[in-house]
Amino acid sequence: MSVSPVLLAEDVEAGYEPGLPIVKGASIHVGRGEIVVVLGPNGAGKSTLIKAIAGLVPVSRGHIALNGEAITHRPAHLMVRLGLAFVPQTENIFATMTIEENLQLAGHVAPAAERTSRIEAMFALFPDLANRRRLAAGRLSGGQRQMLAVARALMIEPSVLMLDEPSAGLSPKLVGEVFAKLAEIRKTGVTILLVEQNARAALAIADRAYILADGRNRHEGSAAALAADPDIAAHYLGLGGADGPMRGIAP
Ligand SMILES: Nc1ncnc2c1ncn2[C@@H]1O[C@H](COP(=O)(O)OP(=O)(O)OP(=O)(O)O)[C@@H](O)[C@H]1O
Ligand SMILES: [Mg+2]
Repeated sequence: MSVSPVLLAEDVEAGYEPGLPIVKGASIHVGRGEIVVVLGPNGAGKSTLIKAIAGLVPVSRGHIALNGEAITHRPAHLMVRLGLAFVPQTENIFATMTIEENLQLAGHVAPAAERTSRIEAMFALFPDLANRRRLAAGRLSGGQRQMLAVARALMIEPSVLMLDEPSAGLSPKLVGEVFAKLAEIRKTGVTILLVEQNARAALAIADRAYILADGRNRHEGSAAALAADPDIAAHYLGLGGADGPMRGIAP
């Protein structure tokens, strides 16, 4: 691509045990201000790839760069300081702490005064959270929890926001709300990389997409082109329902 990508992963091999790669040479790039989605069947290695980029899974081959700087073997806490935020699929909030405390903790890298103004900015972006700031986060609805997880990630003012299945377990209405919020966040200048099972909804807000199968790139292209491709639709976008469009479909 013509401009240098904000996030680049080239020929990445990664896994949980030595000699047993799960991601087997995957490559993705994300340009500044883009929304890019990684799709693929269960077990394809999507979460492993995004976790490897976040520094949470060891990388055994390949190269990862953020804003032109190599981050391949950096630990996760340094990624945060470099402006790479990651929202895992589960356990992304502290249920017994209040919403405000969750945001305080997420913003601990910022000076106290700035932290306060960032929290207020998050409450402006997520009015549902503002009304409940002293409520224990565990008492939020699924959609509100996901919003809080995103707000926590945004507390570090990241240049890149990565999310693993932000719509998992949400009703279609809430899926729409979460994705609309991501589109709004992108407008503030944040680059977004997300992994999703909810392929149709994700393609609707994404600029480009990758389809991963068995740890490797299978397809890539503009979100509109992939959504319109009948072969892609038949293999990866065909099913709806509570279990997600790609559950159980062979690569
Ligand atoms: N913590 C772990 N330790 C060992 N193996 C793991 C671990 N997490 C995932 N795996 C294995 O890695 C493979 C890919 O898993 P991964 O979670 O990356 O897939 P995925 O594409 O995100 O799938 P899904 O759509 O179901 O979330 C699976 O075979 C899984 O069993
Ligand atoms: Mg996953």
